[in-house]
Amino acid sequence: MPFYMKLGSVPRKRHTTFHREGGHRGEGMYYEEVVTTAGFGRAYSICYHLRPPTRVLAIEEVGKIPFEAAPQHVLRHHHLKSGQLEPTGDATLGRLHLLFNDDVLLSRCRPMQPQTELYRNAAADEIIFVHHGQGTLRSMFGRLPFKPLDYIVIPRCTTYRLDFDAGEQADLLVIESQGSVTIPSNYLNPDGQLRLGAPYYERDLHGPSELEIIDREEETSVIIKDGCRLARYVLAQHPFDVVGWDGMVYPYTFNAEDFEPITGTIHQPPPVHQTFDAPGFVVCTFAPRFLDHHPDAVKVPYAHSNVQADEVLYYVKGHFGSRRGVGEASFTLHPHGIPHGPHPGTIVASRPMLRTDELAVMLDTVKPLQLTRQAMALDDPQYPFSWSDG
Ligand SMILES: [Fe+2]
Repeated sequence: MPFYMKLGSVPRKRHTTFHREGGHRGEGMYYEEVVTTAGFGRAYSICYHLRPPTRVLAIEEVGKIPFEAAPQHVLRHHHLKSGQLEPTGDATLGRLHLLFNDDVLLSRCRPMQPQTELYRNAAADEIIFVHHGQGTLRSMFGRLPFKPLDYIVIPRCTTYRLDFDAGEQADLLVIESQGSVTIPSNYLNPDGQLRLGAPYYERDLHGPSELEIIDREEETSVIIKDGCRLARYVLAQHPFDVVGWDGMVYPYTFNAEDFEPITGTIHQPPPVHQTFDAPGFVVCTFAPRFLDHHPDAVKVPYAHSNVQADEVLYYVKGHFGSRRGVGEASFTLHPHGIPHGPHPGTIVASRPMLRTDELAVMLDTVKPLQLTRQAMALDDPQYPFSWSDG
C-alpha cells in the first residue's frame, strides 16, 4: 500500500462522534466506515459519510462473467495479438479475459461506451494499465486523474467509475489480483519509506486529488463483481458522500515513465524491473533505458527457462530488441519448463545500440497460467518455431 494520506475533514480522534448540524435522520453526525485489508491486520482507511454506507434497497442477480479455459494439450509458447480488438462494453464489464490462474486474471479492454453504472470488485485488487486514453477515476476517495502509461491501482471494494476524456479510443490492460497488490517489501526501509535506490518513490505515486462529495438521497445502483458472479446492488443514496478520509487504502496511479531503470555493465535480471508485488505473481516495467555497456556485453537477455514461473510480456511501445514479429499490444506467454531467448540475429543487431526505447509490462506468475478460448482466437500457432533460423 502507498503512504498515509488525508483528504477533507476527519474528527480529531478515530471512532469518536464526528458532529454536524442536522444530517441524516437529524442524528447530527457523519458516519464512519473503516476500510481494512487482511481482516483488520494490514493497511486501512477511515472514511466519513453523510449517510450510513450500508443502506441497501435491492439486490439483483446480473449473471456470470463468461470465460472458459481453452483445452491445452501441449506445453508451448504463445503470441497473442490483441492490437486490433473491436471496442466493446464499458471499462468494467467490457473486458476480454485472456490468461488466468488462481491468483491473477489478465484481460484487455477497449471500451466502446461510457460506464453508466458504478462498479465494485469485491474479490480482487485491480491494476489497470492505461495503454491509451486519459480521464478520471471517481470513487468515494475523490477524483483521481489518470493519463497514458499510468498504472491505476484500485484496492478491492473501491466503488468506482472510470470516465475517459473525449478523443482517443481508450485501451487498457487489466490485472485482477486475488491477493493484495503491494509495493515490493525490498523497496522499503525499516521505517516504511521507499529506499534511496528503489526505482520509484513517494512523489511518483499519486492519490486522489480532491473530494467529490455527492449529497444525493436517491436510488443508485452498483455492479458488484465477486469472482465470476455479478450482482446489482441498489443503494438508498449515492455512495460518493464522503466528507473526509485518511489512511493507506485508496486508489492511486504510478506512471510507467516514472520508473527509474536500474542498469549495469552487463545484463540485469528481470527482478530489477519489479514494480508491484502480489501473492502468486509480480508486475514488472521494462522502461526505456541505457543498454549494458561492458565492451563485450550481450545487450539482449540471455536464453532462459523460467523455472517455476510463467512469464507474460505485454508490449506497449517502442522497438523490442530481443523479439521479432511482436507489435504494440502483443502478448507473449513463455511458460515454465521450456527455454526462450533472443530471436536469431538480435544479439548481433543490438551490439551498436546504446539504449532501448522499449516499454513493456511483464507478469511472472508462480502457478501456471491457463488461456481462455478468447485468448486462443488471438494466438499465432507459428510462434513456438520463431527461433528457428530462417
Ligand atoms: Fe523471459
